[in-house]
Amino acid sequence: MKKMKSVGLNDELYNYILDLYVPEDLLLDELIRETEKLEIPLIQISPEQGKFLTLICKIIKAKKALEIGTLTGYSGIHIARGLTPDGKLTTIELEKKHAETAGKFFEKAGLKDKTDIIVSPAIDCLKELVKMNRVYDFIFIDADKVSYPDYYEEALKLSRSGTVIIMDNMIKNGRVTEDAGDDADLKAVQLTNKILSRDKRTDTLLLPVGDGLTLTMVL
Ligand SMILES: C[S@@+](CC[C@H](N)C(=O)[O-])C[C@H]1O[C@@H](n2cnc3c(N)ncnc32)[C@H](O)[C@@H]1O
Repeated sequence: MKKMKSVGLNDELYNYILDLYVPEDLLLDELIRETEKLEIPLIQISPEQGKFLTLICKIIKAKKALEIGTLTGYSGIHIARGLTPDGKLTTIELEKKHAETAGKFFEKAGLKDKTDIIVSPAIDCLKELVKMNRVYDFIFIDADKVSYPDYYEEALKLSRSGTVIIMDNMIKNGRVTEDAGDDADLKAVQLTNKILSRDKRTDTLLLPVGDGLTLTMVL
């Protein structure tokens, strides 16, 4: 086994990073409070993951972005903020209540014109977007884990050379190296990591940011 060169994080180091690089955001705090009040699970990405998504979109000058798994719009706001002024985020969500809350917060964030929420099972919607020959600069996958391999394949059909695909929960709370047993979600994440790491159509690294983000570039 190789010796790790990275420095392990603790709460003090984590807060040092957040204090310096991820400023407090009152609107996002309100979104989280509202999500909790509505008894919608608080399963949004972490603040530094959000900043990472914004930065990547800015770096690649993303104009067209696609998200699978809107929840109440926390990650969507980060993505939309990173897009070019004429950019647009299409985000897919199964639950109407989640989508409605996201819509409300996209509007509050001044991102109404830059966002388009589709309420649908993601796989059906992705197949429709493929039929419509849509192509995206940036794709974020953060919905039901068992469908990750399918979402990745559809995402590739919606990509061009240079498209960036990011997937969340790829460390699965530190459990990704464990025997999955009958944990279908963990099995799916392990399978997705295997597929991504071997795929000759793309180049990927699993980054230990939050619960693990895979950063994939389509070749
Ligand atoms: C982890 S949350 C997304 C968090 C969000 N990306 C954020 O960071 O703010 C996953 C979301 O995917 C949605 N979802 C689950 N299965 C889905 C499906 N088959 N199609 C579309 N959305 C689905 C859930 O309702 C939930 O809102």
